[in-house]
Amino acid sequence: MKQIKKITCIGAGYVGGPTMSVIAQKNPHIQVTVVDINQARIAAWNEEDLSKLPIYEKGLDAVVAEARGRNLFFDTDVDKAIEEADMIFISVNTPTKTYGKGKGQAADLKFIELCARQIAEVAKDDKIVVEKSTLPVRTAETLKSILDNTSSGVNFHVLSNPEFLAEGTAIADLHNPDRVLIGGENTEAINALVGIYASWVPNERILTTNLWSSELSKLVANAFLAQRVSSINAVSELCEATGANVDEVAKAVGMDSRIGPKFLKASVGFGGSCFQKDILNLVYIARSYNLHAVADYWEQVIIMNDHQKTRFAEKIIQTMYNTVNGKQIAFLGWAFKKDTNDTRESAAIYVADHLLDEEAQVVVYDPKVSAAQVYKDLDALGTRAPEANRRLVKVVDNAYEAMDGAHAIAVLTEWEAFKTYDWAQIKEGMKKPAFVFDGRKLLDRKQLEELGFKYYAIGE
Ligand code: NAD
Ligand code: UGA
Repeated sequence: MKQIKKITCIGAGYVGGPTMSVIAQKNPHIQVTVVDINQARIAAWNEEDLSKLPIYEKGLDAVVAEARGRNLFFDTDVDKAIEEADMIFISVNTPTKTYGKGKGQAADLKFIELCARQIAEVAKDDKIVVEKSTLPVRTAETLKSILDNTSSGVNFHVLSNPEFLAEGTAIADLHNPDRVLIGGENTEAINALVGIYASWVPNERILTTNLWSSELSKLVANAFLAQRVSSINAVSELCEATGANVDEVAKAVGMDSRIGPKFLKASVGFGGSCFQKDILNLVYIARSYNLHAVADYWEQVIIMNDHQKTRFAEKIIQTMYNTVNGKQIAFLGWAFKKDTNDTRESAAIYVADHLLDEEAQVVVYDPKVSAAQVYKDLDALGTRAPEANRRLVKVVDNAYEAMDGAHAIAVLTEWEAFKTYDWAQIKEGMKKPAFVFDGRKLLDRKQLEELGFKYYAIGE
């Protein structure tokens, strides 16, 4: 088996950073270097003050403290790191294409291709190249073709090793994964990667497959998870119409061991950088093989999710006497889920956008998201001028300030701390009737109604 002494990871984002930190923590004999073209991000990874790491994940600071400077390094010199490595992980972003063929659906692979070309150009000895990013099935073929045709006599083995961590629980997921998936053709290369994970993952949880099964399994896993959320969200609307309670239905259905209880929490809609992107990609791939029924089936998961976000915003407007113009609506939460500072594709962005179209005054509080990020997310939609976003939206760093004088509160992220607020005091400071729209079914209906709030929750 090839002895791996040096690993390089290209891309120091939500996946590259935490994944490589854990690999370095568990393999002190291997030097792990994470590189990125984003200098500010690398500087943040090298921050002495661990509260300033670029990503907020519980337990990440301790892992970085243990390994950084020992066998874990963050750097901007991509060429040097490629040249030195035995194994190179590609962990760059693969967003949905915003131009040309496949616009709005296909994955944009320009960053992946740039990495392949750079590796081919710089490499002087044999390398194992590992796809860590989520990629369309058969991307390994493209990578291999670029590597083989642009390098000078170097041997490359391409492996697929998709990442299944969820944000907010990244370190726990990495320390104790349900499975590690490795797809490849070359046994020696596969065994080299298995050896790295075997430092802490039991052998029976390390699954090896062919390349295409591994690439496709990642897209399918995300599609199945998102499909469960869309399914329960579809049921939530039916519950509202019939008097059933979606939590009760989810519990009753999920107790069937064939169905299981996880991922059945109705919400304002799933967000995050991957579910939508990966399903759109799956839909695009199916269509490219002329599998239109397959494509339509999965596309419905996205259609349902969009509907849920719109429906929540509409419910707010309709309940507040069909006008929110000039009314203050406090947003509790902006991140796409609790315990992360990530806001990519967060439902909060789309709900806010809808309310801003109606000239509402939105005041946002999220314990981990900055004002700059909130404005960046809204500006990126291009719905209105940046000045209008700044006129209509205020971002505060105190939840009570957000709710003081508000006509309504909307819960967009399920941060645990929101449950512990002094709701009697909050109601005092609000306009009456004091509305709460709970997009996460987080708060206690009984407590809030006893205090005199008008409380609305998804699926009730
Ligand atoms: P990210 O945007 O946080 O990080 C990607 C990083 O790659 C950026 O810092 C960018 O500057 C860097 N980069 C891009 N091109 C580069 C180049 N040529 N050279 C050096 N650096 C370059 O993205 P992410 O959330 O870490 O996701 C990365 C991949 O992992 C995606 O394919 C995603 O679908 C997948 N994934 C993400 C998650 C998640 O929870 N975020 C989970 C599983 C899989
Ligand atoms: C998801 C998957 O869970 C990971 O396995 C995968 O690696 C990752 O995508 C990826 O490929 O990027 P993540 O998006 O970080 O992880 O977070 P999830 O916990 O899956 O939540 C996604 C969204 O669904 C959130 O907005 C969450 O609030 C929502 N959700 C989740 C619900 O509304 N209800 C649920 O029951 C579960």
